[in-house]
Amino acid sequence: MIFRKRKINHEIDPGKLPEHIGIILDGNGRWATKRGLPRSAGHSAGADTLKKIVTECNNMGIKYITVYAFSTENWSRPKEEVDFLMNLLLNYLRNAEKTLAGENVVIRAIGSRTELSEEIRQQILKTEAFTANNTGIVMNIALNYGGREEIVHAVKNICTDITDGKLNPEEIDEKLFSEYLYTVGQPDIDLLIRTSGEQRLSNFLLWQNSYAEMWFTRKLWPDFTVHDLHNAIIDYQNRGRRFGGIQK
Ligand code: FPP
Repeated sequence: MIFRKRKINHEIDPGKLPEHIGIILDGNGRWATKRGLPRSAGHSAGADTLKKIVTECNNMGIKYITVYAFSTENWSRPKEEVDFLMNLLLNYLRNAEKTLAGENVVIRAIGSRTELSEEIRQQILKTEAFTANNTGIVMNIALNYGGREEIVHAVKNICTDITDGKLNPEEIDEKLFSEYLYTVGQPDIDLLIRTSGEQRLSNFLLWQNSYAEMWFTRKLWPDFTVHDLHNAIIDYQNRGRRFGGIQK
């Protein structure tokens, strides 16, 4: 524990860490194009960057990280790129058993699984089960994820429970609703990071980002470093979070 604290940048207050970080890892394609490489090379480099960032978050003692790996809209990319991304994700999940799990990471996939291949669905179940008893950071991989889809999915399940007599509409409040989301049992996003200069939510965790502090950088995701992560956290710690109230 002392070792972990020593590793943190001295400007970071270990007592005020964001509990849940969300990352929209954007700019892989541009990173590759700038180098005259195929877009797939950018995604591979992005996956390497992700490993380093998750490891650092885990070492720092951050409890949850959610990364936007593949959105419900990403299916509209050329088939070759979609296939590459699916394969990269499959390998990431497979290797995670050896690499990240060794670091005590709990891995979960969030999003609609119906449209994923049987092979990926099976691998998700395997990786989730394999890492379920770990005690380190929880890493949610948003895979075929869309914030609107998540909300519609929750509403449908709520309706089913009402029809089945398991739920009374009077019981529905924000807390109950959040229990029907893919992130059930997890805190909302405290800090949302988006790379590549874009400043929008892109259908990412619409409910959970309600009071997130947003941090943007022009850097492309494969160039994002541990130092950038520290800067985002320092910035977060200097913001006055009011949640609609007034500054104490
Ligand atoms: C955005 O860059 C990135 C993606 C759509 C895919 C993100 C996926 C990875 C980093 C792969 C690894 C992730 C995991 C969890 C294994 P872009 O392609 O939109 O870049 P561009 O905006 O420059 O075109």
